[in-house]
Amino acid sequence: MLEKIIIHGGKPLNGKVKISGSKNAVLPIIVASILAEGESVIYDVPDLTDVHILKDILKELGAKITFENNVFRIDTRDVNCWEASYENINKMRASVLVMGPLLAKFNKARVAMPGGCAIGTRPIDLHLKGFESLGAKISLEQGFVSAISEERLHGGKIYLDFPSVGATENIMMAATLAEGTTVIENAAEEPEIVDLANFLNAMGASVKGAGTNVIKIIGTDKLHGAEHTVIPDRIEAGTYLIAGAVIGGNLVIENVISHHIKPVIAKLRDCGVDIEELDSSLIVRNAGNFKATDIKTMPYPGFPTDMQSVFSVLMCLAKGTSIITETVFENRFMHFDELKRMGAVIKIEGKSAVIEGVPSLSGCQVKATDLRAGAALIIAGLTCEGKTEVLDVYHVFRGYENIIDKLQGLGADIRLEV
Ligand code: UD1
Repeated sequence: MLEKIIIHGGKPLNGKVKISGSKNAVLPIIVASILAEGESVIYDVPDLTDVHILKDILKELGAKITFENNVFRIDTRDVNCWEASYENINKMRASVLVMGPLLAKFNKARVAMPGGCAIGTRPIDLHLKGFESLGAKISLEQGFVSAISEERLHGGKIYLDFPSVGATENIMMAATLAEGTTVIENAAEEPEIVDLANFLNAMGASVKGAGTNVIKIIGTDKLHGAEHTVIPDRIEAGTYLIAGAVIGGNLVIENVISHHIKPVIAKLRDCGVDIEELDSSLIVRNAGNFKATDIKTMPYPGFPTDMQSVFSVLMCLAKGTSIITETVFENRFMHFDELKRMGAVIKIEGKSAVIEGVPSLSGCQVKATDLRAGAALIIAGLTCEGKTEVLDVYHVFRGYENIIDKLQGLGADIRLEV
């Protein structure tokens, strides 16, 4: 927890960086392997704190796991427990995703209420509403939430008030072993949902329509283990794209599915950033002289909330006034106080932040308030002449594989101090 990142900014980023497998895709995919009777092998799994937390949770449930060289092997035949303890669940909100598969497998699941990034209140009411539609009864006691069904889950029709990523995934997983057909309307359309559906289908499930707002799942009696390669992390790709733009240099970002980050590429181009799209890579060149722009975060295919804080660094350095409107999460503006300490000019008005561009930021000591805020501060620090120290960097290691090595490989002066 006392680790900090020390940056001496002002050096351009040059060379190639390879994007890792997607954190937000791999977490539900690992969890989905609970549904199988057999071994699953998942490739391109990023070596992140969140993956290790999940590994501990699944081991506690009885799974046999090895995780080496980005290959995650998991045998869930001996999973015999439907209760996930507070100790691990509290470390990561996404661990609530174990509920769907446990409920499908045992007709009951009990998990501690989740923790995770401190962004907003982040309820799980939509997940629970979905489980109810499949026949489960929900109860809350002593910090635990239980979903119990007297018999096998049955298919149901669920309309999500908001296209929640986690709720869509949890309900999709629970429905794979239910009797009959489930339809999720106003489902999330994120690429990570499609990746999960592909894995479930490889396990023998029947999930149709993933990637649209209506997903249909025809329940089956049994699922088997499967092999799967995780999609590249679109948020990590966007982060390096913005880093290349604001820090400068000539950066080749490899292993990217560019249509997954279309809104980010489009906005960067609006600001004057030079981006070349190749088959599976992107080249970003020093732009400077950024034009101000406005962004509004939205569910996919809108501008991703996970890119908002990193994008704001570019806005801090653009000519003119930019506005960010955050519609997905509350309290996702905590990094602005830290950016202000670096000389940014930002005013918060409700769900919007008004940013007046300045010619440069200046290095100082700042604190990562969450995962993406941490990435934003690192990038801001790399644009500054002088020294920046980023505290509470454990947040960053939850979501960016080898970020220090990757940036050093591109010529950045950045190191971890323990
Ligand atoms: C996932 C991502 C996260 C990303 C977010 C939105 C993972 C592991 N994390 O989080 O990085 O920022 O999608 O793209 O994939 N909500 C409710 N009730 C619910 C569930 C959600 O009100 O039952 C609200 C949340 O409070 C939030 C909004 O819906 O305001 C979006 O949340 P959701 O899409 O569920 O995000 P996560 O799955 O938690």
